[in-house]
Amino acid sequence: MKTTIKKAILPAAGLGTRFLPATKASPKEMLPIVDKPLIQYAVEESISCGIEEFIIITGKHKRAIEDHFDSAFELEEKLKNTGKKKLLEEINKLSHINFAYIRQRIALGLGHAILCVKPFVSDEPFAVLLSDDIIDPDYPLLREMIKIYEQKRCPVIALEEVPKAEVQRYGIIDGVLEGDVYKINDLVEKPEPRNAPSNLAIIGRYILTPDIFEILEKQRPGFGGEIQLTDALREIVRRMPIYGYLIKGKRYDAGDKLGYLKATVDLALKNKELSESFKKFLFEKVKAE
Ligand code: G1P
Repeated sequence: MKTTIKKAILPAAGLGTRFLPATKASPKEMLPIVDKPLIQYAVEESISCGIEEFIIITGKHKRAIEDHFDSAFELEEKLKNTGKKKLLEEINKLSHINFAYIRQRIALGLGHAILCVKPFVSDEPFAVLLSDDIIDPDYPLLREMIKIYEQKRCPVIALEEVPKAEVQRYGIIDGVLEGDVYKINDLVEKPEPRNAPSNLAIIGRYILTPDIFEILEKQRPGFGGEIQLTDALREIVRRMPIYGYLIKGKRYDAGDKLGYLKATVDLALKNKELSESFKKFLFEKVKAE
């Protein structure tokens, strides 16, 4: 598949405090949903759009991510020798993909993480995927966003309507619907419900242009004392249009315990090997409650 977007940036340097103690020594991006870590879902979602170059922004205690996408000689030999062909294929299916890793030395926020890739991205648009937002693998959100980018040649961000009481967990936009997309007027990071311009929340899928770097370089700390991507987008929208695309399928906030459990249940029910027996288990469980 040909695409105008060749690179995906996967920020993975966050501390994962919402999932402690599990994330004390292991990256939250490596938490599994059924049998794959969160970050692999984001990688496979990008690959399904024709993206084959990844820049993962890591930090301390994140070595497991690099190991996960590397070859594993001993394990491969063992699987070969014991005839476990399917498993061998499974662990090697991403071996043709290029991964680069950049360390964000200090966790100064999402905007700062994106700025770290500047020297490695030439003058081209790129996708940003936050891997704790899991998108239903059967719903091609990123592909739809790339199509919009190809028509508009401006940044595109994914949106979801959230309950008013939850707006302070997200970047929130003010915008007007133009056909199938929102033309964004303004964005605020994690507002109080009474100050929120809408209940349209930014979710972790962005198509950005390199214009963002120049702004991030000058960006002052915002919410939580961090360099916020939302604040930089607020500056961009004064210079060029940004479009918001309302998600039409399912999204799970897998960085949150309840969201993680919902994603696990739904994706287990979609898994061919598990769905029948898992459905039966759930059914009996609910009946017994
Ligand atoms: C980040 C962004 C926020 C966005 C959210 C989506 O926040 O800063 O604007 O709404 O991702 O998941 P975080 O979840 O990293 O606090």
